[in-house]
Amino acid sequence: MNEKKMIDIAKEVLENAYAPYSKYRVGAVVKTSSGKLYTGCNIENMSFGLTVCAERVAIFKAVSDGEKSITKVVIVSDGDSTPIPCGACLQVMSEFSDENLEIIVSSRDSKLEKFRLIDLLPRPFKLCKEG
Ligand code: THU
Repeated sequence: MNEKKMIDIAKEVLENAYAPYSKYRVGAVVKTSSGKLYTGCNIENMSFGLTVCAERVAIFKAVSDGEKSITKVVIVSDGDSTPIPCGACLQVMSEFSDENLEIIVSSRDSKLEKFRLIDLLPRPFKLCKEG
């Protein structure tokens, strides 16, 4: 499964976004170590703090299916702003990947950008002394 294909899938899944408050629709695809793909979209709530980002939905779908290791995350929005993952999502990513996790983001007009998890979250919280 190449990157272009993952981006196309993320664009499809953002059509399912439930974003009546922000009107900012996001689709995400995560790839697991075993090569499986899981999709997610953002799901907002009238009680705004209950909103869940697209990438976290995709990761939780993977984990609930027994996949506890992710190697790539693609996040696409059809809005103007680049969908850089929020701090909460980065911490969740760090639980199920290593610092080399590839994160690929793109918005409606912006060029695709690529990061490693360590670029965006250099010091994740860990319950141990290392790092
Ligand atoms: N959002 C995501 O789903 N992923 C991101 O990477 C950035 C933000 C969502 C959350 C909320 O529904 C909307 O975008 C505006 O913050």
